[in-house]
Amino acid sequence: MFDFTPDTDLPEAERYRQLADAAFALTDGEDDPVANMANLAALMAEFLPRLNWAGFYRVIGDELVLGPFIGRPACIRIPMGQGVCGTAAASGETQLVADVHAFPGHIACDATSASELVVPVTRDGKVIAVIDLDSPNKNRFGQEDAAGIEKLASAIADRI
Ligand code: SME
Repeated sequence: MFDFTPDTDLPEAERYRQLADAAFALTDGEDDPVANMANLAALMAEFLPRLNWAGFYRVIGDELVLGPFIGRPACIRIPMGQGVCGTAAASGETQLVADVHAFPGHIACDATSASELVVPVTRDGKVIAVIDLDSPNKNRFGQEDAAGIEKLASAIADRI
């Protein structure tokens, strides 16, 4: 059994440090990308409060294809450059969206999503996937969340 449940009421920086440590430990020695992404999605859902979706889209050819996640069933294929995820993948830059309804081209997979954080995962200079977090609360994500997930993305880039 794995028990990586975080302490409650952790300061954000400490929460993300523990998440990164747990992610690294959980994927250590396992080279199956689907298994690792599945466990990482579960871990993010356990560590991060106020989420309704947490998971991965993988870059395959010129589109993003749904990967392991926790949440409601989601759009399967997203063209590069479209929506929040496609914008993150095409630009290689984290997208921090306080209000998804104000984001031009946002792709609504779950009507309850109100804010979103999408972080590219880069390996050998190429975006290979994105980590997507959705929240039912507006303004859920801030710079500390972006920095925390960026660290996680670089820690697990060669394990997915
Ligand atoms: N909202 C995303 C699509 C993926 S779902 O949120 C799971 C987007 O605009 O790219």
